[in-house]
Amino acid sequence: MTHNNKIQNPRGTLDVLPEDQYYWDLVRNSAENIAQQFGHQRIDTPVFEATALFARTVGEGTDIVEKEMYTFDDRGDESLTLRPEGTAPVSRAYIQHGMHSMPQPVRLYYITPIFRYERPQSGRFRQHWQFGIEAIGDESALIDAEVIHLLWSFLISVGLKDIKLFINSIGDSHCRPAYLNELESYYSKYQQEICADCKVRLRKNPLRLLDCKQPSCQTIKSDAPEIIDHLCGECEEHFTSVRKLLEMWGIPYEIDANLVRGLDYYTKTVFEIHPKSSGSQTALGAGGRYDGLIEQIGGANTPGVGFGSGIERIIMNLKQNNVGLENSASEKTSLYIAHIGEEPMETSLNLLGSLRNFGIKVNTSSKSRSLKAQLRSANTMGVTHTLILGPEEIQHGNVKILEMESGEESTIQIDKVATYFSE
Ligand code: HAM
Repeated sequence: MTHNNKIQNPRGTLDVLPEDQYYWDLVRNSAENIAQQFGHQRIDTPVFEATALFARTVGEGTDIVEKEMYTFDDRGDESLTLRPEGTAPVSRAYIQHGMHSMPQPVRLYYITPIFRYERPQSGRFRQHWQFGIEAIGDESALIDAEVIHLLWSFLISVGLKDIKLFINSIGDSHCRPAYLNELESYYSKYQQEICADCKVRLRKNPLRLLDCKQPSCQTIKSDAPEIIDHLCGECEEHFTSVRKLLEMWGIPYEIDANLVRGLDYYTKTVFEIHPKSSGSQTALGAGGRYDGLIEQIGGANTPGVGFGSGIERIIMNLKQNNVGLENSASEKTSLYIAHIGEEPMETSLNLLGSLRNFGIKVNTSSKSRSLKAQLRSANTMGVTHTLILGPEEIQHGNVKILEMESGEESTIQIDKVATYFSE
């Protein structure tokens, strides 16, 4: 076999190895705690959905629908798509399970893999995990502010202190059409100058013009009309209320008039949180209001607001800032039983079972090996104590306890070990 035959993980995917699980536990646990603190309940939807669900909501002209979906026909010729985002599936479930008859808003959360055929780069994967929140059925600005507060608190609680919140309002069906006309006529004057992508955006999805990162388009963009100056009375009032609540709760924010998001379903409030130290394309979490989405997929006219937050990106940032490492060693007692000789091995298996029945974390060697080799295993596992069982200990019904950090040794009767460590 040559090296070429080795199969590797698909591009843009990640193996989460045992040594990284600590970070994943930390982030997942914080996510669940914060979500529940804010009154959200967990929902899990299938990994794949009918393709039409995403085409209709995320939008035909978006990068996600045009270039990034993992879409396939199953053996019954049904077009299915691996979930490229979490809001549309949760909205579908809201309609399908009649959640409109529950007290509104229905507050949900999910922790789930997301699939997008993107160009892999730092912090951008083809499979990533999102912690997401949706609050469906309440149009008030309070809910927007709560959802932003939740994302902010979550990122702070995992240990990311240097973060920055950007917010904007992109209006609704009353005020946005007129704004888009103005934007189009402004950009039409620069048809020759703008980049190839912007030429397409101008035709298909003019709001996305504001998201262009090409240096050559920046001057044109900076003079473009801003949506925030074109909001209708209701949208403006809504945005002001969101801002007031954020100020009341001590959440610092910056208004970014070019913040438009890459999904078509947004209305009114949109927001992103980035690490302070880095540029664009690095959102740790992002979302907004989507008041038209549920109706688009066959439900009643129902408002909604939520966010998604990329777990891999959060962990990359935690590692870069050395956050969390100091807690990574388990504080709980954990044991390794080293045995020397045949009889001690028998006794150690006996002890292993009874310690586990007491709920103690313990391991041993499945084979006879030198004490040195067994201590090496104990070290690798990072246990707090090694119990040593040799012929001499067996003879006296004892076991030797080696405290790993200090190297101190003591002796205890075998039948006292379980109570000693469970206290
Ligand atoms: P999104 O901005 O596409 O929004 O993704 C949300 C977050 O997922 C991003 O801020 C980022 O942290 C992470 N993320 C996105 N793409 C990748 C990737 N390729 N690799 C790693 N991380 C990534 C949504 O998906 C909306 N459904 C959010 C939402 C919920 N809006 C309302 N409710």
